[in-house]
Amino acid sequence: MKIGILTGGGDCPGLNAVIRGVVKTAVQQYKIDVVGIIDGYYGLVNNKIRGLTLEDVSGIMPRGGTILGTTNICDPFHYFAIINGKKVYGDVSDKVVENIKNNGIDVMIAIGGDGTLAIAYEFFKKGVPVVGIPKTIDNDLFATDVTFGFDTAILTATEAIDKIHTTAESHHRAMIVEVMGRNAGWIALHSGIAGGAHIILIPEIPFDYDAVIKKIYERKENGKHFSIIVVAEGAKPKGGDVVVKRIVEDGAEPRRLGGIGNRVGDEIEKMTGIETRVTTLGHIQRGGSPSPFDRILATRFGAEAVTLIAKNEYGKMVSLRTPEIVSIPLEEAIGNQRLVPLDSGYIKAARLIGISFGDK
Ligand code: F6P
Repeated sequence: MKIGILTGGGDCPGLNAVIRGVVKTAVQQYKIDVVGIIDGYYGLVNNKIRGLTLEDVSGIMPRGGTILGTTNICDPFHYFAIINGKKVYGDVSDKVVENIKNNGIDVMIAIGGDGTLAIAYEFFKKGVPVVGIPKTIDNDLFATDVTFGFDTAILTATEAIDKIHTTAESHHRAMIVEVMGRNAGWIALHSGIAGGAHIILIPEIPFDYDAVIKKIYERKENGKHFSIIVVAEGAKPKGGDVVVKRIVEDGAEPRRLGGIGNRVGDEIEKMTGIETRVTTLGHIQRGGSPSPFDRILATRFGAEAVTLIAKNEYGKMVSLRTPEIVSIPLEEAIGNQRLVPLDSGYIKAARLIGISFGDK
C-alpha cells in the first residue's frame, strides 16, 4: 500500500510534525510506503512527487513551514494556466486522478484548511480514497476543538504584545497590534488576553470608535497614559466593512485583508491627539518552530490519520474532541466556520477584568 500526503493552503507551524507522524506510523506500524506531493495540489497536477522515508522525516519536528511546500492558489477543478499571455481556466481533476493511479498511490492524506479539505472531498467523490487533517493558525474550523498552528501563533503574538507594552508605556502612546484572523478573532482574543491588551477588536464584534476612545480616556483618568489595542485583520467598525489589502484571484478566499490597524490608529490620533503607532505582525505568526502543544496535536493527528487508513476508513477528517482524537465525515467538516461565540467564556472573563471590545 502507498499513501500520498500533501500540505495545502497557507502554511503553519506543525505541518512537519504531522508529516513525521504519518511516515513513522505508516512505515513502522503498517509497513505502508509514503510519498510526498510537492506544493500541494499543484504537485498532483504536475506530477511532482517525492519519496518520504523515516530518514527524510528525521529531525523535522521542530521546523516551521512544510518540507513539501504548499500553495493556496491551486484548485485542480478550477485550474489556471497562462497560455499566450492569457489566464485560461480548466478542470484538470481527471489528470490528477490519473497521476495518483500512475504513481501507485492508494490513498491521499490532505493536510489543510477549509479550501484544501473541500477539494479533497471533491476527489473523494470522484473515487479517490482520502483522509483529511485540519490546520490553520486562525483556528476557525468548526469540526475540531482546535487546529495545530494556533497555539504557536498566539505565542508569537503574545511575545510581540509584551514587547510593544514596554515601549507604549515609556512613550505614553496608544499602540496597535494587528494580528491575523479573517473571519474569526481567536488569535486576537487569546493573544490580547495573554498579552494584557486593554482593547481587543475582533470580526465577531463590530466596534465603535467612540467606545474605543472612551476606554483610552478611562485609562488616562486612572493614571495610565498608554493603551494596547489588539486588532484582528478582519475587525470592522459598526456599519463599516473590512479593509482589503489585495485580491488574490485564484485563492479559495480571494480577499487578503490588512490595514485595519492603521485605520484605527489614524482615527485614535485624530480624535484624541494621543500619539499612536501601529505594528502589523503578518506572516511572522505563520512561521517559526511549533509549540509543544502543536507538536503533540500534529503528531496525534498524523498517527490517527494512518490508523483510519489501516481500517479502510476514508472520506473522513481527524479532529480533536478533547481529550480524544476522533474522526468525522469530511462533508461535515467543510464549509462550517468556528467563530468566537458572543457568549464565550473568554469574552466574559476579558470583560470582567476590564478589557473593552470597542462595543460599549
Ligand atoms: O488562513 C490563514 C491566514 O494566515 C489568514 O489569517 C490570512 O488572512 C491569510 O492566511 C493570508 O494568506 P496569504 O499567505 O496568502 O497572504
